[in-house]
Amino acid sequence: MAGNFTFTIIKPDAVKSGYIGEILSHMTKGGFKISGLKMLQLTQGEAEAFYGVHRERPFFKDLVSFMTSGAIVVAVLKKDNAVEDFRKLIGATNPENAAEGTIRKKFAISMQENAVHGSDSDENAAIEASFFFATSDRF
Ligand code: RTP
Ligand code: MG
Repeated sequence: MAGNFTFTIIKPDAVKSGYIGEILSHMTKGGFKISGLKMLQLTQGEAEAFYGVHRERPFFKDLVSFMTSGAIVVAVLKKDNAVEDFRKLIGATNPENAAEGTIRKKFAISMQENAVHGSDSDENAAIEASFFFATSDRF
């Protein structure tokens, strides 16, 4: 059965561009309820751990350096079928391929600086949400 929450990051490019409010609004208008929310800057160790599955990929070092380059906003979002519906709302990884009306189409700069993260499975949503939020910080 599909889970009822996903995990997202508003990435440094979008925070620097002043899009936090507009992006959160896009998420809530898309039917997602904010269950947990905070702003922080990742350390190198935290970014390496969070993106550990990409450790062997050629873009890993650049990704860690980008994700530690400024403040981010992390959130847990609730909705039925959250993971799949949220991936639809954000659009393809590369904004050039992202569908009209998606968050990445509207706010992403490039394949790397693509405005937002969205969990890719219920299992990873649970792991990623608990990386940043204690159960008592989720409502
Ligand atoms: P995300 O995990 O952030 O939601 O993105 P995604 O599933 O759509 O893409 P994924 O393959 O998991 O890649 C994670 C992030 O790494 C950066 N990336 N750069 N330069 C490149 O070729 C490249 N490929 C991926 C992006 O920031 C991507 O979102
Ligand atoms: Mg991913």
